[in-house]
Amino acid sequence: MKNLNRIIWFLGFVFILFSCQQIPEEYAAADKFRLSWTDDPTTTMTIIWDQKVGAEATIFYGKEDFGRQFWKYDHQQKPTEKLLNYYHMNTFYCTLENLQPDAIYFFLLKDSVGVSKRFSFRTAPDKPQQFTFVTGGDTKSSGASLEAGRASNKMVAKLRPLFVLFNGDFNSGNGTYPDRWHQWLNDWESLATTADGRLFPVIAVHGNHENGNKSILNKIFGAPFQGTDSTNIYYSLSIGGDFFHMISLNTEIDEGGAQRDWLQHDLQAHADFTFKIAGYHKPFWPHTAKKGENEYQYEQWAGLFYKYGLNMSFDGDSHMHKITYPLRPSRENGSYLGFIRDDENGTMFVGEGSWGAHPRPNDDDKPWTMQSESVNQIKWIHVKPAEPGSPASMEIFTVITSRYDAEQNQTFYVDDVESISDGNRFEIPQNITLFTGKDSVKSVKYPLHLNE
Ligand SMILES: [Fe+2]
Repeated sequence: MKNLNRIIWFLGFVFILFSCQQIPEEYAAADKFRLSWTDDPTTTMTIIWDQKVGAEATIFYGKEDFGRQFWKYDHQQKPTEKLLNYYHMNTFYCTLENLQPDAIYFFLLKDSVGVSKRFSFRTAPDKPQQFTFVTGGDTKSSGASLEAGRASNKMVAKLRPLFVLFNGDFNSGNGTYPDRWHQWLNDWESLATTADGRLFPVIAVHGNHENGNKSILNKIFGAPFQGTDSTNIYYSLSIGGDFFHMISLNTEIDEGGAQRDWLQHDLQAHADFTFKIAGYHKPFWPHTAKKGENEYQYEQWAGLFYKYGLNMSFDGDSHMHKITYPLRPSRENGSYLGFIRDDENGTMFVGEGSWGAHPRPNDDDKPWTMQSESVNQIKWIHVKPAEPGSPASMEIFTVITSRYDAEQNQTFYVDDVESISDGNRFEIPQNITLFTGKDSVKSVKYPLHLNE
């Protein structure tokens, strides 16, 4: 009898011990979570955060959602790199590898203090497959421009893209103010994350407001650089097998020389891809009169874009909306600033960076400008592979996020927009405000004949 009692007590003790495995009330001492693609987007993801205090940070992850029950996730991984006490942050990087393409993963961070919120991400497809991305640039650190940028961040969460191509100029100043980066990263985590915890990888492009520290995007987003000099931030990534290739270029270092050689080599190596796009900060020929022309940049890149069939480029810096017709370099009659319209083989130039920064007047249109407006906006691009009877296409939606009236009163266009779910990623959400072009068109399709 005594022995039976002992056994019952022992079993009770074991039961209590096991049921103690529960979600800690404390949250991990980590914040500023963001994602970045620094390697193959189909099989890797880099999770980056600021570890305030605490030790033993570990990412728990898997394809099944267990909320904050960290012990149930299939995989765990320690940070792959750290950068301690830099810009008053302890930046930890954890690159997950061998992920399944086109899959949703759930993850959280556990440290000696507690367990973070549960987040999720999606890997890129490794076959030609439909997806969307958001692109834009130019945010500021205070005032109405900061609020406009926050509205655009919120729009990202509503649109649920595969990734975000951010075309430079993250903060006011020269990129060396820690508090402005803290604000940008806190805003990004809190506003550009969906209510169900989805984060979107940032593909970062260097802008002139990062010129005080030309390797800062490598520190903040793990952005790759060429060779051994971390200020040479330009790189490329591919999605969907030989479907989609994107290049992050740098207008703030020499666009010729080593960068031009690299670009030529990269375009040549990916010439067979269905779509090739580039993101960079400064446009060749800005659509606001106050901004100077960038002739040297045109000389270095425009010929290569045409020769290797770059389909679309995305720029920033001027703070407005513009889309050009497809253009090829030319000095012939009818050309303007070295470009002539070529709907078959030209590159379309899309920009010009008013994610948050106060819009400048669109007072410098060219003969080959299709659209322009002075407004806060981001671009939402739907990319589709060829199907029987229809070619591969890209469709550009210019999503207005805020606007000023003559008295400089700001109106936002975000809060009423319906949030997209994984099941309807290609539908246009209710209450979205899109730029409306000639003949009331709400989007621009590429190739151009699809608009007819
Ligand atoms: Fe700029």
